[in-house]
Amino acid sequence: MNRTQLPGTGLSVSPLCLGVMSLGTTIPEGDCFALLDRFVALGGNFLDTARIYSDWEPGEKRRSERILGDWLQARGHRVRLVLATKGAHAFIESLQTPRTSAAEIRDDLEGSLRTLRTDIIDLYWLHRDDVTRPVGHFVDLLNTFVREGKIRTFGGSNWSAARLRGANDYAKKSGQQGFSANQPLWCLGSAQARPFPYPGLLKFDPAAYQFHRETGLAVVPYTAQAKGFYTKLARPPADLTENIFHTPPNVAAAAVAGGIAQQRGVNLSAIVLAYLWSRPFPVIPIVGCRTIAQLDDCVAALSVRLTAAELAALESASQSGLPAEI
Ligand SMILES: NC(=O)c1ccc[n+]([C@@H]2O[C@H](COP(=O)([O-])OP(=O)(O)OC[C@H]3O[C@@H](n4cnc5c(N)ncnc54)[C@H](OP(=O)(O)O)[C@@H]3O)[C@@H](O)[C@H]2O)c1
Repeated sequence: MNRTQLPGTGLSVSPLCLGVMSLGTTIPEGDCFALLDRFVALGGNFLDTARIYSDWEPGEKRRSERILGDWLQARGHRVRLVLATKGAHAFIESLQTPRTSAAEIRDDLEGSLRTLRTDIIDLYWLHRDDVTRPVGHFVDLLNTFVREGKIRTFGGSNWSAARLRGANDYAKKSGQQGFSANQPLWCLGSAQARPFPYPGLLKFDPAAYQFHRETGLAVVPYTAQAKGFYTKLARPPADLTENIFHTPPNVAAAAVAGGIAQQRGVNLSAIVLAYLWSRPFPVIPIVGCRTIAQLDDCVAALSVRLTAAELAALESASQSGLPAEI
C-alpha cells in the first residue's frame, strides 16, 4: 500500500485504515496477531480502535486496546504506525448519559495511553459529540492534550458538519489546532439503512459532503463495507433479516454494484470501497476485516476508481442524496 497525507496533519497513512474493534471478541484472540501482521506486511500503517471496544461483551473490558497494545509491544512496531483511538463515549451501562467533561475525556485518554502502552496517540477521536457543550470546550481541551504531548492531532466521530465547522472556526479564531478529520458512518447504502440499535451514531449526509468538498478535510468512514451486506446478499442463503442495510434501495444498489463488478472483473467489495474513495476530497475507509482473506480482498480493491456514471448509478439506486462527482 502507498501512503496518502491526512491534510494539515503531517501524518502519512495507508489508504485503508484497519478497524480493530473486534479484536478478542468476534476475532478470537489467537487470530489477532496474524491479522495485524498481515496488515503491516501489506503496507498498512493506520489502525483504529477505541477505549470502549469490547465493553459490550461480558468479561475483560478494553480488550481491543489491550490486545493491540500487546501486539505493539511484541512486534516493536509503534513508531511505524499511525495509531488512532477514541474517548468520550458513554459507558455501555448508561448510553444516554454523555461522558464529555474535561475530567472524563482526560481519564479516557490517559487510560488509552496506559492500555496501548504508548506515550502518544497520533490521531485522537472524540467518539461522540455532546451538543449541550460549546465547541470551544472540546477544542481547548484537545489543544491542551497536544501541548502536553499526549496526542498529535484529533478528529470528531459522529459529529455533524455544522459542529465540525463551528469547532474549526473557533480553533482558527483562537489560534489553535482544529479537527483534522471526520469519522462518520458512511458506506454504500448508509443513507437508506434502518436505524442503528444504539444512540449517537451519525451518518454522512449531503451537508457533510458539502463541508468536505469546501474544506478538503479528510473523511475516515466507519462501517465502510456495510458490515459485509453486499457480499452476503450475493452469496445466498444468508440470513439478513437483522441486517440494518437490508432495505429495498440497498438491494437495488447491490444489483448495480454487482453489474459494475462483473463488467470490470473485480470483486464486489472493490466497488463498495471504490464508492467511498472516488471523491473530490480525501476518503480513507476503515475496514473491519475479521479474517486475512477479507483483508486481502480489501487491499486488492485499492486500484479501482469509479467513473462519474458508475457513481451516479450507485447514488441513484441507493437514494443517497449525494452528488456523483469524481
Ligand atoms: N466511530 C464509531 O462510532 C464506529 C462505529 C463502528 C465501527 N467503527 C470503526 O470502524 C471499524 C469497522 O467497522 P465495521 O466492522 O462496522 O466495518 P465493516 O468493514 O463495514 O464490517 C465488517 C464486517 O464486514 C465483513 N467484511 C469485512 N471485510 C469483508 C470483505 N472484504 N468482503 C466481505 N465481507 C467483509 C465481515 O463480516 P463477517 O464477520 O460477517 O464475515 C466483517 O465482520 C471498527 O473496527 C471500528 O474501528 C467506528
